[in-house]
Amino acid sequence: MGQELLRDWSASHANSFGDETLLLHHRLKDSGLFSRQALAELIGNCSSEHYNLNTMGHDPETSEWREGVIGDASGEDVLASIERGRIWLNLRGVEEIDPRYKTLLDEIFDEISARVPDFAPFKTKLGILVSSPKVQVYYHADIPGQMLWHLEGTKRIYIYPTTDKFLSQQDLEGIITGETEEDLPFDSIFDDEATIYHLQPDQMLFWPLNSPHRVTNDDCINISVTTEHYTDDIRKSYAVNYANGILRRVLGLKHLSRSLTSPLVYPKAAFAMLWRTLKLNRSREIDLMVDFAIDTGSKTGIKDIPAYAK
Ligand SMILES: [Fe+2]
Repeated sequence: MGQELLRDWSASHANSFGDETLLLHHRLKDSGLFSRQALAELIGNCSSEHYNLNTMGHDPETSEWREGVIGDASGEDVLASIERGRIWLNLRGVEEIDPRYKTLLDEIFDEISARVPDFAPFKTKLGILVSSPKVQVYYHADIPGQMLWHLEGTKRIYIYPTTDKFLSQQDLEGIITGETEEDLPFDSIFDDEATIYHLQPDQMLFWPLNSPHRVTNDDCINISVTTEHYTDDIRKSYAVNYANGILRRVLGLKHLSRSLTSPLVYPKAAFAMLWRTLKLNRSREIDLMVDFAIDTGSKTGIKDIPAYAK
């Protein structure tokens, strides 16, 4: 885009990069790729493997996440339904749908790599979240490195420590092996130890790997970009936790090390790769059921449909 994407980066940010939550300002909107018209076109071109459409309940302690489908609705219809409903749309792997988003994704990580010594990201991905006024995203943790680039609306993001109290070793293993959903058991008392950001347009937030978090929108539509990345250490962490999860659940082993420097890292990574390649965990993974669709004629913007496996 010519100008730097991060507006207020300073040298000190490189030292704490990945260890502490980072709040900066960005220029992604200048790309023109996130206007209403651009988003409507993108949604219209998006096949079912590139999105999750969800609706949810109101209680942050009870996960009632439902999976839906866009169906015949146009991109503009989807946006209009999100404006008046309780809907959360996650466009995934957008860089595969339109090369302009791939160019932007590469610019983001080229710029950060130039600023942070030894940061060598790979398997980078770009997603776009469009969500209704007052909806929430339940308490959960993500597997890859994640950055949130906020564009429109305002929302609160609660970020919690990565200690066992907030994310047990078993829960993280379950998310990584696909045996449990990303949503984690949540108690509102956890909020006493959360760091809460009231995210404004053009702010970017990057939290330490696997930090549990949850989100509540203010009374306005919200649009954000998410980026995902892996590094060598994130890949090792993934492989060790994956292998530990299998060793614990299938073989009943306990007291499993999460060290990324032990000599066991490479055998564990090989074991995890083999298990995944042979799809030996498939029978333990959770299937998503789709049970609603966009309905521009309804007050909530959605309608129930007979459930089917995604
Ligand atoms: Fe997340």
